[in-house]
Amino acid sequence: MQSICIYNLFGHTEEEMGFYVAYPLIHHIVKRRNNLRALNQLHGRLNLLKSLLLSTRFYLAKEILKCKYFASMGKKDLERIAVISCVHGNIAALEAVLSDIKQQKVDRIVCLGDLVGYGPYPNEVIKLIEKENIQTVMGCWDEGIAKDTGDCGCHFASEEDEKWGEIAFSWTRRKINKSSIGFLKELPFGLRIEDTASGNLLFVHGSPRSTSEYLMESTHDLVLLERAASGKCDILICGHTHIPYVREVGGMLAVRTRSQAEKKLGEKRSIKLSPKLIINAGSVGEPRHGRPHSTYVVFDSHSKSVFFREVPYEVSATVSALKKFGLPSVFSERLAKGSELIAKSKEIACAC
Ligand SMILES: [Fe+2]
Repeated sequence: MQSICIYNLFGHTEEEMGFYVAYPLIHHIVKRRNNLRALNQLHGRLNLLKSLLLSTRFYLAKEILKCKYFASMGKKDLERIAVISCVHGNIAALEAVLSDIKQQKVDRIVCLGDLVGYGPYPNEVIKLIEKENIQTVMGCWDEGIAKDTGDCGCHFASEEDEKWGEIAFSWTRRKINKSSIGFLKELPFGLRIEDTASGNLLFVHGSPRSTSEYLMESTHDLVLLERAASGKCDILICGHTHIPYVREVGGMLAVRTRSQAEKKLGEKRSIKLSPKLIINAGSVGEPRHGRPHSTYVVFDSHSKSVFFREVPYEVSATVSALKKFGLPSVFSERLAKGSELIAKSKEIACAC
């Protein structure tokens, strides 16, 4: 294994650097350890990482977490957990997914929020979630509607996207009843299940930092590792992107550190980085993976396996309701295609 000098690169302690900085470099180094270009490129990559870390202000994550409300499900010996996300007022899709889940012999269902927004039946969705007693965390739309913030708190890719978001927000706010508002207000930011056979699980809508932060399939390993570490979990289960995926991050890295005072390289040492699994549950009511079918996942904590489920539902029923309520036709077109209609920038953009 190559050794790397990362002395005080970001003004953090050695331990912090081992925890937060070392991980993503391992892939780069191990995969290319016989390739001299890797060493030539290392300096540039460190600078890139520095900008990334500073721009995301990752070092504040632990402090921010102290302010969040995480509900605990305690230590459970659960094996199969169905995870659904982003229902978005689409009752036909929710009913189809719940029916499919019944065939999967799961021990529990967890919902990652975004019960409302865009879809025509926000109250009906909340009522069914309540009736089925599904443990749910707060999504960005749930938070925005419950607190009447004026939007879902997401970054929109274009002015047009933003306009549709505003229309959906004001329509949902007018439509939603007091009982539903009360339900949304009580949702926790996250849920924990500890000491499963796969380790500690954390369920959030966006990330352990925020309901509106995107953890995309393309998000840098470093960011994923930091979010999982700051959420104090082995398995981080999120939604918000509307596209399901699973990624594993972890490895070993040899590092040398140098203190600011001594300006001298220390001994080389290896840091073991605990592997983290990042699972995205996709979307029940606003799928964006390229097909109109609802998506969700089943996580087997005993075997640490993830099963992706894709469920067809009666899209035409939801489309008819959207038209009946006078909602923009773009919402219907998006549902029918199962993808974004507006090209996004390469940066993380709104999909919520
Ligand atoms: Fe969503």
